[in-house]
Amino acid sequence: MTLLIQNGRVITADSDFVGDILCEGEVISHVGPSIAAPPGSEVIDAAGKYVFPGFIDPHVHIHLPFMGTHAKDSYESASRAAIVGGTTTLIEMCCPNREDQPLESFELWLAKAANSACDYSFHMGVSRFDSSTASQLREIVNRGIASFKVFLAYKGAFGVTDEELFATLSLAKELGVIVTAHCENETLVAALQQQLLAAGKTGPEWHEPSRPTQVEAEGVHHLMTFAELTGAHVYCVHTSCREALENVQAARLRGVRAWVETVIPYLTLDKSYAERSNFEGAKYVMSPPLRDRSEQPYLWAALRSRLVSTIATDHAPFDFAGQKDMGLDDFSKIPNGIPSVADRINLLYTHGVCRGRLDLNTFVDAASTQAAKIFGLYPRKGTVQAGSDADLVIYDPGFRGKIAAATQLMNVDYSAFEGWEIEGRPSTVIVRGAVQARDGKFVGELGRGKLLTREPTHF
Ligand code: URP
Ligand code: ZN
Ligand code: ZN
Repeated sequence: MTLLIQNGRVITADSDFVGDILCEGEVISHVGPSIAAPPGSEVIDAAGKYVFPGFIDPHVHIHLPFMGTHAKDSYESASRAAIVGGTTTLIEMCCPNREDQPLESFELWLAKAANSACDYSFHMGVSRFDSSTASQLREIVNRGIASFKVFLAYKGAFGVTDEELFATLSLAKELGVIVTAHCENETLVAALQQQLLAAGKTGPEWHEPSRPTQVEAEGVHHLMTFAELTGAHVYCVHTSCREALENVQAARLRGVRAWVETVIPYLTLDKSYAERSNFEGAKYVMSPPLRDRSEQPYLWAALRSRLVSTIATDHAPFDFAGQKDMGLDDFSKIPNGIPSVADRINLLYTHGVCRGRLDLNTFVDAASTQAAKIFGLYPRKGTVQAGSDADLVIYDPGFRGKIAAATQLMNVDYSAFEGWEIEGRPSTVIVRGAVQARDGKFVGELGRGKLLTREPTHF
């Protein structure tokens, strides 16, 4: 299959030019000002449109047994939704519970992904560290998984003890593996939850007060101290507030090798959504919680200054009816998570680029290139150059539309962004040389996605 994309405005993290892109088989073979169409090739006219590298979401949950239920998506639904929204690579958190074995869990998550339409990899969750853990993690790294995940929250489920955190980071340092981390102090969360519930404060509006910014900032500081003393490279997932950012900045100045991710809900939503009446707020319960709107300018500024490297989703879909309502009488039982794998790019383009908060290069860098660089996928993914995988998003900035649960491909019964306007949309999405989406419709093939094996680079 040969595909020629002509006359598009090609945007990478560090370039911006009008040109042509020739894709032969699964890779880009040539990028230049005017490429003649080889006989038999399909030609796509991208005049008036942007051509971006395929976007990478480095933090999603698809198979997620959590808080007494399971997240709703399968790889069939999540990968279709991702592709239509411009995301061509997913990195999923493989999240075993404390009693599970790492290798068995890894095999389970691999099997769940077999039907993916887009490429994927995993961050290997470490939720216990005992005498057999290290050898299993070594084998998983040898099989191409170059990142771990730890939770400093979720006591008794995914959360690790300090001894386990130290052991995980020490092994990661030895293996050159980066450790992604959910940073919240779980002891403080449990104590504050108990205090609020005892006072009869049971609704979703009390979720944020049970996990205030100090709880996240303490978790980040804790991780930074452990990273400093072990030398491990660390990545703070879903960072929501200024205090947490400042703790990373301070650690970086001390020489800690730390990267920061934020997620689209923190850039667009705020805690007032979780305060909506009639339990509607439960749709907006995630952890760390949605914050006061005054935190958002700091997140945007940190993106522009590259203190924040990546924008992910933390996609975690739970139905409003039948799942979120498990916490009707107790906010601490509302399954945590907001679905957004389909919407990240259109929301970021609309609220970042169109509102003048991000330039086009930073948009591409934060939503694609940095994830590829940090997680060992660059330059195979994350850019537009000869030799890279032909993952491309032809983006129509003239499109106008609205987000609606009724038309979304994510398998969940609500949208956190219902009725929101978007000012742009992918018109064509190409995954390894094959067109997989056109104008909001999935036209690709399930099962075409490949596991992306990655080499450790964080020594
Ligand atoms: O609320 C969230 N973030 N749900 C998904 C699990 C996690 O903590 O990432
Ligand atoms: Zn988390
Ligand atoms: Zn997550």
